[in-house]
Amino acid sequence: MSIRMMDIDDIEDVVMLEEQLFTSSWTAKDFLYELLENQYAYYFVYEKDHVVAGYIGIWKMYEQVQITTVGVDQTYQRQGIGKALMNEVISFASQNGCEVMSLEVRISNEKAIALYENLGFCKEARRKNYYQDNHEDAYLMVKRLEEGK
Ligand SMILES: CC(C)(COP(=O)(O)OP(=O)(O)OC[C@H]1O[C@@H](n2cnc3c(N)ncnc32)[C@H](O)[C@@H]1OP(=O)(O)O)[C@@H](O)C(=O)NCCC(=O)NCCS
Repeated sequence: MSIRMMDIDDIEDVVMLEEQLFTSSWTAKDFLYELLENQYAYYFVYEKDHVVAGYIGIWKMYEQVQITTVGVDQTYQRQGIGKALMNEVISFASQNGCEVMSLEVRISNEKAIALYENLGFCKEARRKNYYQDNHEDAYLMVKRLEEGK
C-alpha cells in the first residue's frame, strides 16, 4: 500500500469512486480544477494492489486546513484506509504549521462522524440546510493542532 499525491492520471479512477460513494459527486472537471488551478488544494490517493482504493482532499489556507472530501472504495472499507488518509493530512497540516482543521459532514453519516471523532475532531456547529440535494444539515467538525498532533 502507499499514499501519494493524486495526479491527473488518477482522476478517472477517483471520479468512479465519487460516483459510487456520493449522491452529489464531483466530476473530472472539478478534480482537474483542483489539481491544476486551485493553489490551496492538495489531494492524495491510497493505492492498494495498484488500485486507487481511496482518496482525500484538503484546502490549506494559511493556518487553516479544510478537508474537502474523503472516500474509500466500498470493497476496501473498514480496513483502516480512511483513517490512514486522514492521518496523512493531519501530519501534512502539522508539518506545515497549521493550527486548525475543519470539515462538514452530513448529520446522518454515522460512519464518517465516527471516523472523525476517533481522530479527535469535535462537533462545533450544526449548519442548517447545508446540502442542496436533500437540504440535510451538516455538522461542522473541528480539530485543533496546537500540540502538533
Ligand atoms: C467514511 C469512510 C471514508 C471511512 O473509511 P474506512 O476506510 O472504511 O474507515 P476505517 O476503516 O479507516 O475506519 C476508521 C474508523 O472510522 C469509524 N468507522 C468506519 N466505518 C465505520 C462503520 N461502518 N461503522 C462505525 N464506525 C465506522 C470507526 O471509528 C473506525 O475505527 P475502528 O475500525 O477502529 O472502529 C468510508 O466509509 C467512506 O468512504 N464513506 C463514503 C464516503 C463518505 O461518506 N465520506 C465522508 C464525507 S464527509
